[in-house]
Amino acid sequence: MMLTGKKILLGVSGSIAAYKSAQLVRLLVKAGAEVKVIMTPSAKDFITPLTLSTLSKNPVLHNLFDEHSWHNHALLGRWADLMVFAPLSCNTLSKMVHGNCDNLLLAVYLSATCPVVVAPAMDEDMWHHPSTRHNLTTLESFGNKIIPIENGELASGLIGEGRMAEPEQILAFIQSNFFFNSPLKNKKVIVTAGPTIEPIDPVRYISNHSSGKMGIALAKDLQSRGANVTLILGPVHLDFNPFGMNVINVSSAAEMFQEVHNHFKNCDLAIMAAAVADYTPVTVSSKKIKKKEPGMSLELVKTKDILKSLGEVKRKDQILIGFALETDSEEVHAKEKLEKKNTDMIVLNSMKDEGAGFGHNTNKITIFSRDNEVIRFETKTKSAVAKDIIDTIIKLYYA
Ligand code: CTP
Repeated sequence: MMLTGKKILLGVSGSIAAYKSAQLVRLLVKAGAEVKVIMTPSAKDFITPLTLSTLSKNPVLHNLFDEHSWHNHALLGRWADLMVFAPLSCNTLSKMVHGNCDNLLLAVYLSATCPVVVAPAMDEDMWHHPSTRHNLTTLESFGNKIIPIENGELASGLIGEGRMAEPEQILAFIQSNFFFNSPLKNKKVIVTAGPTIEPIDPVRYISNHSSGKMGIALAKDLQSRGANVTLILGPVHLDFNPFGMNVINVSSAAEMFQEVHNHFKNCDLAIMAAAVADYTPVTVSSKKIKKKEPGMSLELVKTKDILKSLGEVKRKDQILIGFALETDSEEVHAKEKLEKKNTDMIVLNSMKDEGAGFGHNTNKITIFSRDNEVIRFETKTKSAVAKDIIDTIIKLYYA
């Protein structure tokens, strides 16, 4: 059975779609999972705890404490391999985003260390409200996955978007996103992301506009496919839930070089998505540089090329992927980089393409492989681009 031995916490919030939770519990249990259900107080108006406890073969929890005991939300969050919200109501969504903690389900959510997936259910107008859009985007930025809603007949009698996905689809989503036999399962992967900063004096530095979004999207995708991810991350301004991946924060190119080499020997796959500074100041002034002269020049020296240095030591069983950001003769430069740095693949971002590159939530890439394959992709969100890159890596090197 696909989910044998998997521990799943099912959060049920107040929505007409809660009647579908009963069927979902049945499917999860039939697939071999151990299921514990937590309800919000208003969910009990839509479906009885008795139904869900009978189907899950476990008591249904809804209070932070009852007459006899206090329910340990931290341990529940750790018990689970996966937490599923189905249905996710507008109200619970908003509370999750803002860190409210006024019921057991929210307390468990805030203390959960496992991946979280949600199946929203709401009226079409609520679904399209900017507040809901904003909350869903924020929830996604926490690393939580959202199961797409369906178009169809709604409880309001209207027809449109907002229906919760059917239990069969939720089960399929869970299996294909979390518990499946991925060729990357347990593979050790290093990802670098973000910029580096090269100090000039105690208050100034040289850096670049990399936001880290592309590298983090890659790390998350790899993680969801069961890989063992070490993310070596330059200074970024993003909040993200690392889901227990090993995150090593670094600042300068030299620190990133050191950490990458500390981990490279033991890794199967390395993806260098960081925008590493190519030059760094020769000396770092220990005191703030005063503005005495009308002009000044800064002497810079090349940093060590991390990707190239890995290409020099990489074994046959290791796969090495680099990025290239070019403004002209893109394909020629990307192919040169593939050779020069001895990589298995170069992912080219073109600065010319609208919606691609630094800071954007979208990206447009072309992949160049060792075997002279050139694969072009459309402009997509960075998480969809990450999926394309990892799918290509699997197709070329792990199929
Ligand atoms: N890279 C690296 N270490 C550096 C510079 C770059 O590991 N010191 C990696 C980046 O992470 C990326 C790839 O090299 O995967 C391409 O970087 P890019 O800056 O585009 O190319 P450069 O090698 O710097 O060449 P050029 O400046 O000539 O474009």
